Amino acid sequence: MTDVSKYIALLACIFQGFVISDWEGVNRITSPPNANYTYSVEASVMAGVDMIMVPENYTDFIGNLTYLVNKNAIPMSRIDDAVKRILRVKFVMGLFEEPLADLSLAQHLGSQEHRELAREAVRKSLVLLKNGKKPEQPLLPLPKKARKILVAGAHGDNLGYQCGGWTITWQGVPRNNLTIGTTILKAIKNTVDPTTQVVYNEEPDTNFVKSNNFDYAIVVVGEPTYAEMYGDSSNLTILDPGPSNIQNICGSVKCVVVVISGRPVVIEPYVEKMDALVAAWLPGTEGQGVADVLFGDYGFTGKLARNWFKRVDQLPMNVGDPHYDPLFPIGFGLTTQAVKGN
Ligand SMILES: *[C@@H]1O[C@H](CO)[C@@H](O)[C@H](O)[C@H]1NC(C)=O
Ligand SMILES: *[C@@H]1O[C@H](CO)[C@@H](O)[C@H](O)[C@H]1NC(C)=O
Ligand SMILES: *[C@@H]1O[C@H](CO)[C@@H](O)[C@H](O)[C@H]1NC(C)=O
Ligand SMILES: *[C@@H]1O[C@H](CO)[C@@H](O)[C@H](O)[C@H]1NC(C)=O
Ligand SMILES: *[C@@H]1O[C@H](CO)[C@@H](O)[C@H](O)[C@H]1NC(C)=O
Repeated sequence: MTDVSKYIALLACIFQGFVISDWEGVNRITSPPNANYTYSVEASVMAGVDMIMVPENYTDFIGNLTYLVNKNAIPMSRIDDAVKRILRVKFVMGLFEEPLADLSLAQHLGSQEHRELAREAVRKSLVLLKNGKKPEQPLLPLPKKARKILVAGAHGDNLGYQCGGWTITWQGVPRNNLTIGTTILKAIKNTVDPTTQVVYNEEPDTNFVKSNNFDYAIVVVGEPTYAEMYGDSSNLTILDPGPSNIQNICGSVKCVVVVISGRPVVIEPYVEKMDALVAAWLPGTEGQGVADVLFGDYGFTGKLARNWFKRVDQLPMNVGDPHYDPLFPIGFGLTTQAVKGN
């Protein structure tokens, strides 16, 4: 079989494959979780879960399942059924002939070709939410040739913040040395005219901004790294000093604010001060994609995949709700054209 037909056969098999529960998922079918683990095992297996994810205390799971089979609460035919489904997929995957992973494609991880694709995904996922205090005076695309520009905010030079959680580690690594990539600051330096002086200051005060006579500022703010419940937040604010950075800088010089976040965050109180606002989500290692669009090598095309709230007390808020009043509605996104020779 060719590789492609092999994978199609594999996918077809998996989709008629087996049902697997997530991390301690069956423990949570009671309220509170673990209220009756025996019940959790019985109810989930009888409902058709074939493989149970038991990250700890697997002896408790085996003990309970054996107990339930012995007292005929779970018929042996159901065990045979689950085992058959699981083995079938393992046979089709060839695990019994070749139990170890095929590493032949590992050399392509992080290849230039893949980075280019990731960079294109960054360009296309950026959403332009504001462009100019007056629409007829847009700030973006930014001129590459300027005397002196300011890049500010910890998120402007931090690969870990760009990548977010589930990168290298579970909760992410808010540092620059976690992996290879391009920070937004580095990308800006790569992109501007060689005569343009780029000044990076994580947290400049108003005097610094005013006295330096910058042509414009790029303020990069956002969230900490997180995954799963560590990202739960009832305030959905960006990290300090993001808000004061916006206030101090945008009050003194023309500014574009780039937000690095895994979701809409509180931004409404500062939008009026900004000249432009870009939601960059979590662009990952390829920060060059952000500069590609800020400086007009490519146009903005991205649209919001969800509503952007004004205040957290509006949440949850969906189209059609009586209190529907978003800062930016789902599907919103301004566009710009690519400019040649900027
Ligand atoms: C726990 O669940 C098992 C299996 O459903 C049931 O037989 C038992 O009565 C339950 N125990 C309690 C204390 O509810
Ligand atoms: C595993 O079992 C031990 C002893 O019964 C208990 O203290 C612990 O909380 C259990 N851990 C999990 C993740 O269920
Ligand atoms: C079933 O699970 C509970 C909770 O983890 C544990 O305390 C109990 O010993 C287990 N029962 C058997 C028969 O292994
Ligand atoms: C990154 O830098 C930190 C702090 O200096 C250090 O502890 C860590 O070992 C470094 N990690 C890597 C992958 O180089
Ligand atoms: C917002 O919530 C997060 C997560 O619970 C918390 O760490 C942070 O301190 C809160 N921020 C403010 C300004 O209250």
